[in-house]
Order: sequence, then structure tokens, then C-alpha cells
Amino acid sequence: MLAAPILGIETSCDETAAAVVTEDLGVVSSVVESSIALHVRFGGVVPELAGRAQVDSIAPVLERALGDAGLDPHRPGVRAVAVTKGPGLVGSLLVGVSAAKALALAWGVPLVGVNHLEGHLVAAHLEHACLELPIVTLLVSGGHTMLVLERTPRSFELLGATIDDAVGEAYDKVARYLGLGYPGGPAIDAMSTSGDPAAIRFPRPLRDVGLDVSLSGLKTAVVRAIDKAPYTSAADVAASFQAAVVDVLVAKCERAVELTGARTLALGGGVAANSRLRAAIIELSTHLGIRAALPSLPYCTDNAAMIAAAGFHLLDRGLASPLSMSADPSLRLAAA
Ligand code: KG4
Ligand code: ZN
Repeated sequence: MLAAPILGIETSCDETAAAVVTEDLGVVSSVVESSIALHVRFGGVVPELAGRAQVDSIAPVLERALGDAGLDPHRPGVRAVAVTKGPGLVGSLLVGVSAAKALALAWGVPLVGVNHLEGHLVAAHLEHACLELPIVTLLVSGGHTMLVLERTPRSFELLGATIDDAVGEAYDKVARYLGLGYPGGPAIDAMSTSGDPAAIRFPRPLRDVGLDVSLSGLKTAVVRAIDKAPYTSAADVAASFQAAVVDVLVAKCERAVELTGARTLALGGGVAANSRLRAAIIELSTHLGIRAALPSLPYCTDNAAMIAAAGFHLLDRGLASPLSMSADPSLRLAAA
């Protein structure tokens, strides 16, 4: 028989999320409320607004997640409450951490503080049972870009990272320059479908060197190209930028798999929703004879199911957190 489920809570940025997940990583309920509409006119997430929206949303989101799972909010019978403790915006994080502490105390169950990045790294496990180790995961979001090795279950080793912009950040900046609004990733992805990815040959910085990534030169090249030829088709610029980014990321993944002997190549983070990147990772995995593990779109972007899933493993290793736990906005990925 399976042990009681875990309630996961995620409030690191502009999404308020709660989910109930079983020990075999079955998602019983998952609710995500976003305050993105409040930030659109500022061209990026405004921390103060995000924090206030978290306060408004946390109770209804928790109620819906418990209700959808058919659990009584007074006696839900969950095994623990797992919550993102960092990294993220401090005002946003504190809302989830405070709610999690209150519920853990009221229900008499352990509190488990989870690293948001570990959540993204575990997301691929939610829908793909028994992934073969070692796993190389490309984690690409608005704030992070890293290549991570999972050689033993849920212990993560950093192989490489961006030395300047995160991939999502580069998408958002280029989109702003093209007047596509915020968030830019989905807009560039959509616009690229009608553009020619070979129209402009943008640079591929560090493509053939090591496992670190650098994107600021590419971003500057895009801005220069637009300034030099303002009437170039925006779709061609978007498609050519996207082709350069994906080309670099795929080369890094291939090198990481070759160096580590990985049997699985996984994606995580908001940019993992990108259509060209997903297709390229599947193609690369087929070429290398290994398995591709791509989370479905709701588990690429911020969600609480991934936090609950990461929480199970911490709990099993006796890594519950004290009620004095605080949010850590600059939490890093723990060394394996
Ligand atoms: O993981 P996430 O939801 O939040 C962070 O932890 O950052 O990622 C958000 C990022 C944004 O930069 C957004 O533009 C990007 O993911 N993104 C995409 C796509 N969908 C979201 N980037 C490229 N293509 C997409 N389809
Ligand atoms: Zn995230």
C-alpha cells in the first residue's frame, strides 16, 4: 500500500501553486495561479506586486488543491508539507513558507524545505517512471541555465551553467526588443514558426567549448542586427535567434552525455516548453541511442507537483526541516 501523499507548495516568483502527489509520484491534484497579467506592462516581474499577489492567492489555491484531491482541509491525512524555500523572490517565498509552516504545525506533520531548482530537476520523473541513470538534465528557466548530472537517485552534480544571461532571460530581452511583450519565450517560439531559422546566421558563443553557456554576445548580435536593418522580418529574427540558442544548447547536451555516459537526457524549467528545443532534444537522444525525458508543458513552468515530488526523497532521507526554517532567496543547488 502507498504511504499518504505529500502536499507541495510553490511560491518562488509569480506563480502560486499547490499540489497533492503520491509516493509513486502520481499527481492527484495540481493548481497553479499566475500573477503574470499584473507584470506584463512593466516588461518583467515586479517583486512587490508578485509578493502581494501571493498573499491573495495562497489560501484559495491551497483550498482548491486539497478539494480537487478529495481531502478534508482539517484532517487531510497528508504525510508532510513540502515547500519551496529558495531560490526566488523573498516576499513571494515567505508567503509559501509561512503557509507551509502553519499547515505542518496544525496537522502535526513534517515540514520539508525544497530547493526550487531540485524541483525542476525532478519534474521529468513525474511522468516518466524508472528513468535510467545516469541522467543529464538541461535546466533552462527565466533565472537559471544549468546542465546537471544525476548519477545516483536525486543527488545532483553541476556540470555547467551560464556565465551571463539565463536562456529565458535572453528570450525575454530579445522579445522586448522585437516588441513582442512579456514573457518573451512563448512569443518568440510562436513567431518562429513563420520565420526562416537560416535567414540570419547569428553567432553560437562557446558552442564547441566545454559545458558552460554564454548568451549575452548572441543577444547583443540580435539587437545589432535589428538596429542595422530595422525592416528585417521579425519572424526571421525570432527564428534565427531561436535556432542559434537551440544549436548551442543541443551541442552542450551532446557533450555532457558523451562525457558522463548518461542513459537519459531530460529537460526542466520554463524554456523546456520551447518547441524547437523539445524536438531537437528528442532527435539528439534518438541519435545517441538514449532516452529523452521531457516534462509536459504544465510541469516545465513553475508548479507545486515537482516540489512535492522532490519532498518525498528528502523525507525518505530524513531531511525534514525545523519549523524555524527560513526562506533563502539565493539558495544554490546542493553539491552531490
Ligand atoms: O521556470 P519558469 O516558469 O520560471 C523561472 O523559474 O524562471 O521559466 C520562465 C521562463 C521565461 O523566461 C519564459 O520566457 C520562458 O521560461 N519560456 C519559454 C517558453 N515558455 C516559457 N522560453 C522559450 N520558449 C517557450 N515556449
Ligand atoms: Zn522555476
